[in-house]
Amino acid sequence: MTTKPNIVLVGFMGTGKTAVGKRLASRLGMAFTDMDAIIVEREGRPVTRIFAEEGEPYFRACERALAVELSETAGRVVATGGGIVLDSGNIRDFDRTGLVVCLTATPEAILQRVQHDTQRPLLADGDKLTKIIDLLDKRRNLYEAIPCRVDTSSMPIIAVVNEVIHRYQEYCAD
Ligand code: S3P
Repeated sequence: MTTKPNIVLVGFMGTGKTAVGKRLASRLGMAFTDMDAIIVEREGRPVTRIFAEEGEPYFRACERALAVELSETAGRVVATGGGIVLDSGNIRDFDRTGLVVCLTATPEAILQRVQHDTQRPLLADGDKLTKIIDLLDKRRNLYEAIPCRVDTSSMPIIAVVNEVIHRYQEYCAD
């Protein structure tokens, strides 16, 4: 049984949580869990349909239940959805299981990464950059409350992965 603390990646859409998480997990020999992918699999429908058919509160309840479940595990890299910070219980629970890392990026960098995406209901309809700026503004305090943050705006994925590994090693050494 593994006793390694988890690494939980949080951050706005398009900050690289999934891409970084997969590489981190393979570098560190840890399991990788993508929360959105698990919710989609359990629900049997994509996030856009969950939002459209059940509403955002239902999706948040799925996220909350899964966060509680994952908080019982160890040795895992978890990529959360961008809205995980909306329920402070999620961060509190994840904090107990390991290192919570917030990936950040400028609105322009985020736009570049999500501009052709059709799977993010909160960025659908209207001007994407305006939506990103508005939503980032609303959530700014929640992301900034996480002490361990890495700005991914102009860093290649490999450099972000190395930086998170460095922070994790420090965390484990404490
Ligand atoms: C959301 C982010 C998405 C997904 C859902 C809601 C958000 O995940 O959970 O569309 O509220 O920021 P990603 O951050 O992986 O895009």
